[in-house]
Amino acid sequence: MLEKSRWKHAGLMGLVALLALVLTGCGLDGYQSTLAPDGPVADHQMDVFLVTLWVSVGIFVVVGSFLVYCLATFRFKGEVTEDTPLPDQGHGSALTEIALILISVGLVGVIAYPTILGIFYVGTLPQNDDALVIKVTGLQWWWKFEYPDQGVVTGNELAMPIGRPVKFELETADVIHSFWVPRLGGKKDLMPGQDNWLWLQVDAGMMDGARELPEDSPYQGHYYYGQCAEFCGESHAFMKFRVLALDDENFQKWVDHQKSEAREPSTMAEELGQQAFMKNQCATCHMISGVRGAQGLVGPDLTHVGSRVSLAAGIMENNLDNLIAWIHSPNYYKPGNVMYKAGYEAMNIQMSDDDVVNIAKYLHSLK
Ligand code: CUA
Repeated sequence: MLEKSRWKHAGLMGLVALLALVLTGCGLDGYQSTLAPDGPVADHQMDVFLVTLWVSVGIFVVVGSFLVYCLATFRFKGEVTEDTPLPDQGHGSALTEIALILISVGLVGVIAYPTILGIFYVGTLPQNDDALVIKVTGLQWWWKFEYPDQGVVTGNELAMPIGRPVKFELETADVIHSFWVPRLGGKKDLMPGQDNWLWLQVDAGMMDGARELPEDSPYQGHYYYGQCAEFCGESHAFMKFRVLALDDENFQKWVDHQKSEAREPSTMAEELGQQAFMKNQCATCHMISGVRGAQGLVGPDLTHVGSRVSLAAGIMENNLDNLIAWIHSPNYYKPGNVMYKAGYEAMNIQMSDDDVVNIAKYLHSLK
């Protein structure tokens, strides 16, 4: 009687586990899925993962089946009392043990071979292509991207030319962060006092997980999601970024666009917004190229902030309403952020609602 309810219980638990897996929508092709690689580095990493997975599944099935067979076949079937003797105790078979050791070593070899090849592949920049260099700096909680050869500096959104390897040089301004573009590969830590790097590439034929840029964007192409993958403080989960994947023509457009000066205000609200931006000390930390006095280097460069896909390091879509909400209450969206703590709070900045809306309209116009 007891036996039967136990089996029933186990069956129910199994069903619940299966349902949980299915109902959580365990999709394999999300925007941040590592199981759907969109570049050669991610593809190699996926291959290593699959070899390890299938070897493990094989071991699980063989060992599990053997265990279930033994439990079913060699079970003591009578009634257990105090007088029931222990079964015969043995010390196993030397031959079996040696065989199992050899099989285990062989399986480790099967996993180790592609892993070691993968380590060299990921750790070696393709030599015959001239790689683009992007310097990445992690800050609590946003990303600074610099293109030393192109003279471009931008925040929270970088662009990669399709089909060309990109070398990311990773640095941090404060604590340890981790640079991760799940669809393209990674991840690697940004460590204080250590020069880390990794390379990634987007291949034209593999871009299944890329989202299309908005139609009114100054350049056309697709973009990926990136994410900080190392706990770095209270807003770690809100430290995201976007990676544009552009063909050569659009990449050049992007570079030229980033290097151009900011648009002049063209409406009354934008004009007032620019004045409010200066009056409320925003320019102390933020750069707007071409605007006198707005040369701050502490926060993200805002010269073309209106043309970016996202706001506040990837946590919200870039539109006027979100921009107003973000400027109004940054600490609500990104607890502990420097703009709020060292700016609004420490400098006791009290912005009127009109100022907030006008600043948002001005920044939104900076396409
Ligand atoms: Cu930066 Cu987590």
